Amino acid sequence: MMATAFALKKPQIKTELPGPKARSIIEADSQFVNPAYPRPAFKLVAQRAAGVWVEDVDGNLFLDCNAGVAVCSTGHCHPEVVAAIQEQAAQLIHMCGTDFYYRQMPELAEKLDEIVPVARPTKTHFANSGTEAIETALKLAMHATGREKFIAFFGSFHGRTLGSLSLTSSKIAQRIGFKRQALDVVHVPYPNDYRNPFSAEDCGDGGAAQGGLNWIENRLFKTTTPAEEVAAIVIEPVQGEGGYVPSPKGFLSGLRRICDEHGILLIVDEVQSGMGRTGKMFASDHYDLKADIVCIAKGIASGLPLGACVSRADLMDWKPGAHASTFGGNPVAIAAALKTIELLERELVANSADVGAYLKSGLEKLKDKHNCIGDVRGPGLMLGVEFVTDRSSKQPDPELRDRVEMASFERGLILLGAGPNSIRWSPPLILNRENVDVALEIFDDAITSSR
Ligand SMILES: Cc1ncc(COP(=O)(O)O)c(C=O)c1O
Repeated sequence: MMATAFALKKPQIKTELPGPKARSIIEADSQFVNPAYPRPAFKLVAQRAAGVWVEDVDGNLFLDCNAGVAVCSTGHCHPEVVAAIQEQAAQLIHMCGTDFYYRQMPELAEKLDEIVPVARPTKTHFANSGTEAIETALKLAMHATGREKFIAFFGSFHGRTLGSLSLTSSKIAQRIGFKRQALDVVHVPYPNDYRNPFSAEDCGDGGAAQGGLNWIENRLFKTTTPAEEVAAIVIEPVQGEGGYVPSPKGFLSGLRRICDEHGILLIVDEVQSGMGRTGKMFASDHYDLKADIVCIAKGIASGLPLGACVSRADLMDWKPGAHASTFGGNPVAIAAALKTIELLERELVANSADVGAYLKSGLEKLKDKHNCIGDVRGPGLMLGVEFVTDRSSKQPDPELRDRVEMASFERGLILLGAGPNSIRWSPPLILNRENVDVALEIFDDAITSSR
């Protein structure tokens, strides 16, 4: 069935959306499943998927430019990843790395030591998700520095468990009802070149990047937040859930300098931006940045649950029992990760850069055509398109964004919003130029029909 559908090379919508089978599953879901999942207005009920194609339960075929929220880096069910999973599952599924040993853990940790943007040597803690990788980084920073304050950024998303939630600040729904922050975190506006949040006085002649650095050094450190009490600064090099906003040139190197001057650790959250998504293995590589601790999850294992907190080896000077996870670093997930990294290094990081540039130039042409596109931004296949009422006023238009998201879906293109008024493009890294042409034609039509 998928093979026939593949040959079409175009989405195919055969039923109303959601179709009859999809509707009954959505109904059961609304009865039994956690209603706090932040599902979008369009309803996709997936049945199976291959490459960049997803088939729903009613036989509709979609071109996927979201990849399960930036997770299926090698595409859906890449045959080599499936084979690696199957082979490993037949040999050893679980052994609990907290208490026993198996070869996959040091194998992946050694590979990460080679590729992560952290000064070597490193050590790795294995977790199951992004938020757990962040929790590890927070605990480790407190343990290693003996300090307990953190600096994070508005618009950031680092997870929803209580520690990471103290950092997260992209939507109020994530915070309502959960009382005060578990951790002592102060937030700084994220420097955004399109919407510079800082005053001319803050920026001097250095733009948003300098504004952000001055905010930390001249405001925080001189008022509420003594530098010598800060354990770590936590940052996404390209803000993900906040709207696919790349940090401006000079900002991350400035943070590195501030951290070095004050004995503060720099924690870089590469959960969404890592593993080839930006056209380099890590977004930090675009900025020549070396963090003290890097957190990875999402794309690392092509869809199996795996998170990693990779740190300078000297920082992981904690005793047995201080931090561990029953499932973290499960051998099957690691087998998927090792194969994913092999594919990324073989061809997919390069493809992300190449096809990403092609997609970006197509989106820029659409920006010339549609005055409601305020900004097209991002590296590789981590591209944001921001919708505004018109380009001169830059007035955000979240309703238009939502309509475009829905109209794209109705035409067979899976795209998801990010931030208040942007669409994120985070396709599988196997996307090719032909797929891009199909996607852009649909997106263009979706915008025209939504205005
Ligand atoms: C940058 C970033 N950090 C952390 C997380 C949390 O990851 P998880 O949902 O796997 O806990 C996310 C999830 O979207 C993310 O984008």
